[in-house]
Amino acid sequence: MTAPEAFRGIEIRDLRKSYSLGERRVEAVRGMDLDLHEPGLCAVMGPSGSGKSTLLHLIGGLDRPDSGTIRVGDARIDDMNESGLTAFRRRGIGIVFQQFNLLASMSAIENVMLPGVLDGGNERELRGRAGSLLDELGLGDRMEHRPDALSGGEQQRVAIARSLLFAPPVLLADEPTGALDSAASDRLWGLLDELGTSREVLVLMVTHEPAAATHCRRVLVLQDGRVADDFQTEGMDETELAHRATRPVRA
Ligand SMILES: Nc1ncnc2c1ncn2[C@@H]1O[C@H](COP(=O)(O)OP(=O)(O)OP(=O)(O)O)[C@@H](O)[C@H]1O
Ligand SMILES: [Mg+2]
Repeated sequence: MTAPEAFRGIEIRDLRKSYSLGERRVEAVRGMDLDLHEPGLCAVMGPSGSGKSTLLHLIGGLDRPDSGTIRVGDARIDDMNESGLTAFRRRGIGIVFQQFNLLASMSAIENVMLPGVLDGGNERELRGRAGSLLDELGLGDRMEHRPDALSGGEQQRVAIARSLLFAPPVLLADEPTGALDSAASDRLWGLLDELGTSREVLVLMVTHEPAAATHCRRVLVLQDGRVADDFQTEGMDETELAHRATRPVRA
């Protein structure tokens, strides 16, 4: 008898990535190790330029590391070839950005189905899956609306539904509430954590908002391309959380 397979999130070893800008060399990620194996919402915080987006791009297969290993779910992506990465980005991971990137000419449900249609899937089956996801995200009565008839928070939820079409083990979100007001942001953070737990998805979210930390299980604080702090939020009150998530950490 084999035990049921444990949730496998992200495992990173000695990850490095630098960029050259003319004469200047920027070490955006300089030796990170991470084990993220719990479903639910995990925040990535830290000052501007600390490497948050670079880290997400590497995990999402949107950029390649200089060295180190990255495992996401079943996939080892640091040494994957281009066609492997293309498939991984479409089916193996969910990614949402600050801009919702929805197609204006398509309804909410068509936007959610799109990655599956591009992948050659069965439209009827895809419509069913997309519909349940939109329902789960509270958009059951908005499925036929085009993006311009939806609020910012609703558009972002459509983008999240789309990113979950293939039920990836990990969802990456780079400042997903950057274009939302504070009430809509608060709702989205709560929703992301709920969704992470109910669907067994690790949601790794970059945010600058200390208030987001109250919805997260765990907070990683980056500084100068390294993990400067990494803590579980359980038992911490909001003031304590906000303080710890934003305090400068000694290099
Ligand atoms: N494509 C690139 N070319 C050159 N330098 C880059 C590139 N992408 C990022 N950098 C540099 O790498 C460092 C880390 O950038 P990154 O975008 O990861 O920071 P961040 O933590 O996401 O910041 P912010 O909070 O402002 O979004 C910065 O010094 C940035 O200027
Ligand atoms: Mg960034």
